[in-house]
Amino acid sequence: MDLGTARLTADTAGIAKASALLAAGHLVSFPTETVYGLGADARNGTAVAQVFAAKGRPSFNPLIVHLARTEMAQTYVHWSDTAEVLATAFWPGPLTLVLPLKDGHGLSKLVTAGLDTVALRVPAHTTAQDLLTAFDGPVAAPSANPSGRISPTTADHVIAGLSGKIAAVLDDGPCAVGLESTIVGLNKAQPTLLRAGGLPREAIEAALGQPLALSNGDDITAPGQLSSHYAPAGTVRLNASKAQENELFLGFGKMTCDLNLSASGDLTEAAANLFDHLHQLDAKARPIAVAPIPDHGLGQAINDRLRRAAAPR
Ligand code: TXA
Ligand code: MG
Repeated sequence: MDLGTARLTADTAGIAKASALLAAGHLVSFPTETVYGLGADARNGTAVAQVFAAKGRPSFNPLIVHLARTEMAQTYVHWSDTAEVLATAFWPGPLTLVLPLKDGHGLSKLVTAGLDTVALRVPAHTTAQDLLTAFDGPVAAPSANPSGRISPTTADHVIAGLSGKIAAVLDDGPCAVGLESTIVGLNKAQPTLLRAGGLPREAIEAALGQPLALSNGDDITAPGQLSSHYAPAGTVRLNASKAQENELFLGFGKMTCDLNLSASGDLTEAAANLFDHLHQLDAKARPIAVAPIPDHGLGQAINDRLRRAAAPR
C-alpha cells in the first residue's frame, strides 16, 4: 500500500495534522528525545496492526505506550510507590516503566501482546509532548525503522526505511539522546532492568537507593532484546584497534577513522551519533570495525546496541 508519506513541519499546523491522522487510525512518525517513534492510536487495533505490518515486525512483541503526562498512567496501570519515585525523578524523559494493567484499560491487545502488563513512557521532546497533548490519548510507538534494522534518529532515516508505508513523519531534526529509552520492569518483586538505554542505569539505582535486578531472560523476547538487531548491511567487528582491508572504521576518542562517535571521548555525544553514523556507514555497504567504547553510564547501552549490530544474523 503506497500512502505517499507526508513530511510535516513541527509547527502548530503540522502538529494538528499529525494528531488528526492518528485520530483517524493512520500511522505518524514523530521525534522523541531518544529516537523517532512510529505512532498509532493505542486503543485502535487496526491502527496498531498497521504498525506491525509497516515495520515487518513479529506481532507477538508488545509496544511502548506514550503519554503526555504522568497522571494519565493511572488510567491504564496499577501505580506504585516505586513507579512514583521513578516518574518523579525521570518523567518526562528516556525511561519506560512496565506495570500491571488495570481492568478496563481500553488498550488494544496487540499493544500488550496479550500480556497482563504494559510499557509506558512520557517523552520529554517538545514536539512529542505537543503531539501527545493535542491527541490527548495513548500512542503506541516502536522505533520507526523496518524490524531488525538501525533505529532512526532523523526524519530522513524514517523516510528511507518506511516511505510509502506510513501516512506522515513530523520532522523536527535529530534526536538529542539517540538511544532508545531504558526499560525498567516494576511488575516483579524487585525493579528489573529489561533494556539498557538513554537513561544510565546508575541514575536509576541512585533514585531508587537500590540496585536494579537484571532480566533473567524469561521476560518478553522483543526486537530490542533479540540478539541480532540494529543490523547494517555489512558485518560489524567490535573492539577493533584499527580497520582491516575494506573495513570502514567507526572510532571513539582521538584517532584516525572514517567516522568518530565522539572525538573528545564523550559518551553522551557518542550515543547521539551512534545510529546516524551506523546509517551513514551502512549506505556504503562495507564491513564496519568499531573502536572500544567504555562500558559505564551510556556506554552500557551503546555497547548493547553494538553487540546486537554485530551478532550473527
Ligand atoms: O525510546 C524508545 O523506547 C522508543 C521511542 C519511540 O519511545 N521506542 C522503542 O520501542 O524503542 P520498541 O518497540 O522498539 O521497543 C519496545 C520494547 C521492547 O524491547 C519490549 O521488550 C519492551 O519494550 N516491552 C514492551 N512492552 C513490554 C512488556 N509488557 N513487558 C516487557 N517488555 C515490554
Ligand atoms: Mg526498535
